[in-house]
Amino acid sequence: MSVHDAYGFYTYFLALIGLICLFFIFLDTVWNFLQTAHAILEPYFLPNEPQTLVKKYGSWALITGCTDGIGKAYAEELAKRGMNLVLVSRTEEKLISTAKELEKEYAVKTKIIPADFSTGPEAVQTIKKGLEEGPPIGILVNNVGKQYSYPMYVGEVPEKELWDIITINVGAVTLMTRLVIQGMRERRRGAIVNVSSGAECQPLPLMNVYAASKVYVKHFTEALRHEYSRYGLTVQHITPFFLNTKMNEFSNRLQETSIFVPDAATFAKYAVNTLGKVDHSTGYWAHGIQHFFANIPPVWIRTKIGGQINKGLRRDYFKQKEKKTIQD
Ligand SMILES: NC(=O)c1ccc[n+]([C@@H]2O[C@H](COP(=O)([O-])OP(=O)(O)OC[C@H]3O[C@@H](n4cnc5c(N)ncnc54)[C@H](OP(=O)(O)O)[C@@H]3O)[C@@H](O)[C@H]2O)c1
Repeated sequence: MSVHDAYGFYTYFLALIGLICLFFIFLDTVWNFLQTAHAILEPYFLPNEPQTLVKKYGSWALITGCTDGIGKAYAEELAKRGMNLVLVSRTEEKLISTAKELEKEYAVKTKIIPADFSTGPEAVQTIKKGLEEGPPIGILVNNVGKQYSYPMYVGEVPEKELWDIITINVGAVTLMTRLVIQGMRERRRGAIVNVSSGAECQPLPLMNVYAASKVYVKHFTEALRHEYSRYGLTVQHITPFFLNTKMNEFSNRLQETSIFVPDAATFAKYAVNTLGKVDHSTGYWAHGIQHFFANIPPVWIRTKIGGQINKGLRRDYFKQKEKKTIQD
């Protein structure tokens, strides 16, 4: 082969590799687009009617972190669809008032179990005891989660706060799943809903450990589905972006409800409709659009953008703090 022929051969060879790569990038983008469209449209046009979830999974749902924000809104939406509720959260008084509210409004049964997930297996033992005499859990919503009190560099975050984030975000979802999944497998029905976060999509400076803990939730959930879907179980992975809840109190911009920062009730109304229909969803249509576009740039660009956004939110926190100090 002459030098000229060899040059031609390598040019064609590299062009072929380039074309194959482009083909896979194109396929991936089309696939992501179709998945996003499906996750947005299907629940919108085919909402979960009352009793559908009860018939499919059983009549009791357990929700962790259910006295505020997303957890409380999930509890309401499930109650609207006729599910009885086991309510698990840290503060007993808040649990009692949430249970009363739901029983009165939706004529469902409730059971409360106060437990603090920052204590790790101790909390899960308390819940295990609380469930010894039933009811069997048909839907588990692993919602409880802890975020930084405001965007910080790792060295600034109090040790206890970091440990709590890991214990709650990683530990609770794992042990709560283990607690109920064997029963679901034996009954051959049940749903596990794991609430992750858009923070799972790339490394996230200034919310580093929170984001890393949500990557765990994502991988745990996806692998769990592979292990258990053969027994008829639904394992759903939910990836919300920013919501207007107490978790984001550090920034006044995130305390203003908008299309892209919905309140928890709007979010859950939509998210519960995705249950049993799609394995992965952001839970809310506008977050689906955000998720699609946010995942197009390469990871290193998204990491930089994420870091910049969090620097802005950190500034919000310090401005708010300064204003409060002046007012006090
Ligand atoms: N808000 C967002 O922008 C957003 C975005 C993406 C993902 N998420 C995820 O969504 C989930 C819910 O977030 P949220 O914004 O709804 O939170 P939230 O408004 O702060 O509510 C937290 C709930 O969890 C309970 N809780 C807190 N610490 C607990 C503990 N150690 N043990 C037991 N219960 C505890 C709280 O009740 P007590 O006060 O009684 O303890 C409350 O009911 C989290 O997993 C979060 O990571 C949120």
